[in-house]
Amino acid sequence: MDGAWQPASPAALSEGARNPARGRDGAVARLSWQPLHDDDLPALTDLALCCLERDGGLPLLATEPMLRQLFLAGQSIGGRDETGELITAAGVFLDRSGRRSASALIHPSTRSQGIAEELIKWCREHSRGSRLRIVAETTSPESERFFADNGLSRTFAEHVMRHPLQEIPRVPRPKGVQTYPWTEDTQRLFHTAYRRSFATRPGFPDTPEAAWVSSTAEDDGFRPDQSRVAVDRLGHVAGFVTISDNWVDQVGVVPRWRGHGLGAHLVARSLRVMARSGWSEGWLAVNVDNPAHDLYLRLGYRDAGMRARYEDIDHRLDRSP
Ligand SMILES: CC(C)(COP(=O)(O)OP(=O)(O)OC[C@H]1O[C@@H](n2cnc3c(N)ncnc32)[C@H](O)[C@@H]1OP(=O)(O)O)[C@@H](O)C(=O)NCCC(=O)NCCS
Repeated sequence: MDGAWQPASPAALSEGARNPARGRDGAVARLSWQPLHDDDLPALTDLALCCLERDGGLPLLATEPMLRQLFLAGQSIGGRDETGELITAAGVFLDRSGRRSASALIHPSTRSQGIAEELIKWCREHSRGSRLRIVAETTSPESERFFADNGLSRTFAEHVMRHPLQEIPRVPRPKGVQTYPWTEDTQRLFHTAYRRSFATRPGFPDTPEAAWVSSTAEDDGFRPDQSRVAVDRLGHVAGFVTISDNWVDQVGVVPRWRGHGLGAHLVARSLRVMARSGWSEGWLAVNVDNPAHDLYLRLGYRDAGMRARYEDIDHRLDRSP
């Protein structure tokens, strides 16, 4: 965040100050608006936790690295109430691929009071002419409607799912399949399994081996000893699962092995390993268009919110990456 913040939309924010009736009961005007700094991390954490508690979503949202990325790495604004509590926050930042993106949080107690409209305006004005892209790690039916009403279309969405790990179904390994952990010797097999399993998914990026292996292995929580690649009697890859702490990171089964319970075995096995490692819950994220969602429900996962991306429908404003 650069220090010299000016209200991006002086008209909007100062108009609110002059007109306490702005918003349904003047919520925008009653807040004190300031850029966010490192000192705001504890308040940002509380705000993210309140939103996750209310709407679910990606629990990692409330961690320091993610809050820094979304709200402290670029330009930001926070609104505090008369007691000093952080009620809302917005940030415009560059995502991992260098695209300008925006994110915002509004405390559940202060929704539908005109704040979202002001934040969208602020984000648009700080997007420097590029198409507005919203990163929403927590969503609600209201936010879905709000984005649609404000010219933003959903480009990506995943169910975030939680498994309580108290009861984990036992799913035997299908006959004729052996599984092996991730090592330098097996990482190529893992990549082959990834390619053959995910090739049928829409938008499959076909990440080359070196990039896929390093992005998997460099994840801080990656558990090579608990991840598994499955190989059939002929030595052909049948499927794989990679685990990161208490997350099933990726799971896939090659088309000719599907429907034999291998996917269910790899996921149930992963849950058991997580429970043995002391975790009380397991997590995964699955695209809303992926029928694997049914399989996870059958294995005892439950929906715990949705994460999504939205983009301006009007592309004419897109002048930068
Ligand atoms: C999801 C996946 C791993 C399931 O593997 P699998 O070995 O076929 O799974 P199982 O045999 O244990 O269970 C099959 C169940 O998976 C679900 N399922 C998953 N993908 C499905 C698909 N494309 N079409 C229909 N059902 C699907 C169904 O609930 C199915 O139930 P059924 O057996 O009653 O028809 C496999 O379909 C796959 O690799 N898909 C592509 C990669 C992918 O999407 N991975 C998950 C990302 S979160």
